Amino acid sequence: MKNEAMKNQSFAALNHHIVTIVCDNYKTRDDLDVCWGFSCLISLDGKNILFDTGSDGIVLSKNMARLGIDPASIDLLIISHQHWDHTGGIYYILDANRNLQILVPQSFSIHFKSDMKRYGAKLIETKGAREILPGLFTTGELDGPVKEQAALLKTDAGTMVITGCAHPGIVRIVEIAQTILPENDIALVMGGFHLLNDGEEEILGIIGRFQSLGVRYAAASHCSGERARKLFAREYAKRFIPLGAGSIIGLENLKK
Ligand SMILES: [Fe+2]
Ligand SMILES: [Fe+2]
Repeated sequence: MKNEAMKNQSFAALNHHIVTIVCDNYKTRDDLDVCWGFSCLISLDGKNILFDTGSDGIVLSKNMARLGIDPASIDLLIISHQHWDHTGGIYYILDANRNLQILVPQSFSIHFKSDMKRYGAKLIETKGAREILPGLFTTGELDGPVKEQAALLKTDAGTMVITGCAHPGIVRIVEIAQTILPENDIALVMGGFHLLNDGEEEILGIIGRFQSLGVRYAAASHCSGERARKLFAREYAKRFIPLGAGSIIGLENLKK
């Protein structure tokens, strides 16, 4: 009974969250800059969680200022994987926020970890899937060409899957999201899908897998590639979200 009450409480809290894209290869507002990389802010029940930091601290700082996000207000930083285009802005955040909690895959290099600690950061290393805050989950560190974690938000509209580069495979990440939150539909998959080198047939196969897994909305950006963006836009039609810096996704955008 106690568990059930806690579950309901965390479920209710999820109505408040919203995701804002801070850095991306694409943009949706003229006053923002683009860079190769990805970063988004998750606003969840009064907490600010930054997922990745893009490749460039200057672009990150400009875009955050223009979006009205104070770097000192970040409560938690999640880094998906140790690639420059996801870690590049980290020093801008650390400099403004010396007691930052950072969630990184356990496999991050010892040098990277000690650099973070030098700024006073508290490192939390992830191995397996777990709930980080009520309604916010990590898939845990997934094997692949590069080890990577994705973030999952459990919402009233369904699960939102947020990926950095999806090196372990975008379909695999969605399948794992379903096993972590089996009672939820997948409302949205957003971020980098890493399909830059895939041909039309392979991408259409992936879109077919998305549809059979019941993914309601798709928002391919960052390293997804132009071909994948176009094919997802064609196949998902109104359920494709043309994500870029400045995009704001709330539950109202994820209607059934
Ligand atoms: Fe990337
Ligand atoms: Fe990457």
